[in-house]
Amino acid sequence: MIDNPHNGAPLVWLETYGCQMNIADSQLITGVLRRAGYDLAPRPEDADVVLLNTCAIREHAEERVLGRLGNLAQLKQARPGVKIGLLGCMAQHNRAALIAKAPWLDLVAGPDTYRRLPELLGHDGFDPAVDVRLNRAETYGDLAPAHADGVRAYVTAMRGCDKFCAFCVVPYVRGRERSVPPADILREVVELAAQGVKEIVLLGQTVNAYRCGATGFGALLRMVAAVNGIERIRFTSPHPADMTAEVIEAMAAEPKVQPHLHLPVQSGSERILAAMERGYTVGEYLELVARVRAAIPGVALSTDIIVGFHGEAESDFRATIDLIRGVGYDAAFTFKYSVRENTRAFRLGDSVSEADKTRRLEEVIALQESIARARNRALVGYEYPVLVEGPARRGGGQMTGKTPQFKTAFFPANDTVVPGATVAVRVASATSHSLLCTLI
Ligand code: 5AD
Ligand code: SF4
Repeated sequence: MIDNPHNGAPLVWLETYGCQMNIADSQLITGVLRRAGYDLAPRPEDADVVLLNTCAIREHAEERVLGRLGNLAQLKQARPGVKIGLLGCMAQHNRAALIAKAPWLDLVAGPDTYRRLPELLGHDGFDPAVDVRLNRAETYGDLAPAHADGVRAYVTAMRGCDKFCAFCVVPYVRGRERSVPPADILREVVELAAQGVKEIVLLGQTVNAYRCGATGFGALLRMVAAVNGIERIRFTSPHPADMTAEVIEAMAAEPKVQPHLHLPVQSGSERILAAMERGYTVGEYLELVARVRAAIPGVALSTDIIVGFHGEAESDFRATIDLIRGVGYDAAFTFKYSVRENTRAFRLGDSVSEADKTRRLEEVIALQESIARARNRALVGYEYPVLVEGPARRGGGQMTGKTPQFKTAFFPANDTVVPGATVAVRVASATSHSLLCTLI
């Protein structure tokens, strides 16, 4: 049992690293532990159980967690009764190295084992409780996550990935692709709507690969759109190769599905895309962009870019720059290539120097900033409906929310500007990351 110095429920402190899927998984974990009688601790120092839900996508993500484990070693030394566990993608990726580095860990548990967490935490013994079995059937569809408060909620539609891009560790740490049954998704969405949630973000590593029996992703979008009270629907991240006519049609036809598409391209070089085993050519990607723009007027596009993949020559990088300029993205997430053990590209090596990666990354970021600034400035004078989220963190009496295109808008507060309301704003000025607006 948990060594619990309090009289009440054992307290758990959970930290989340990485992507939106991990944030959603942490809400699931919180739901599982609450039902098993745990409460959330206000601080790690007060906790009976400290859990890190980790990310393995790049070396930097793992280094952050390893650094944090160093701090937790002190907590464990001061209070040996506290249980410390490492969950998620890193647990799956390098359990042996982790246990060697932190032999005092009490728990190492992969992304498909969260149902068993109460049992694993009950384990007492000298060795840590380890469960890193992947389970190609586990969707957690029947379990209720503890969603955060707010107007937007994230709902997992599918888990895992079958794409095996050469650089990516996700298929190895999250396992095979599987979709949450539509009935489970709808039940969750209906509950969220009843709690006042207005916007649903459907999640999956390749969310538009969603398929459960006869229900594909386009049909799922339409089903969620039919839920009363839900006003906006978004999804992340789709894969270009799964961006079927059915999905584009659902986006175009269903007004609740917002006009924003995150379409990770990774590289603008034909040769590098092939080496990355992305499953599309530059030509096919650009043709898809054209189809999406024709079908969904005013759609905003964002992307992911990796610079410095093994073998990326200066000419390949220039092709990426040309593609970014040609498409004109509204936003881009940019990364230096990080070699990951177990992936197909691991044995290829890491031919681009750190200095070249840094220079290329800086050039991509500077270009994207200037494109985003120009695109946002072109919106000055236009009107948008904004779903109010709450007070802006920067203060000054300003409120914040997103436009349909997922641009961050700031606008003055007044009595009607309450979280969950949709207000009409006009863009007065813009930066590369936000729109300063007046109320209409
Ligand atoms: N190195 C750098 N970036 C990566 N990504 C995935 N794997 C790696 C890697 N090994 C990026 C991709 C993906 C995003 C979530 O993370 O751009 O779309
Ligand atoms: Fe990784 Fe590719 Fe799957 Fe995305 S589609 S999670 S980049 S393997």
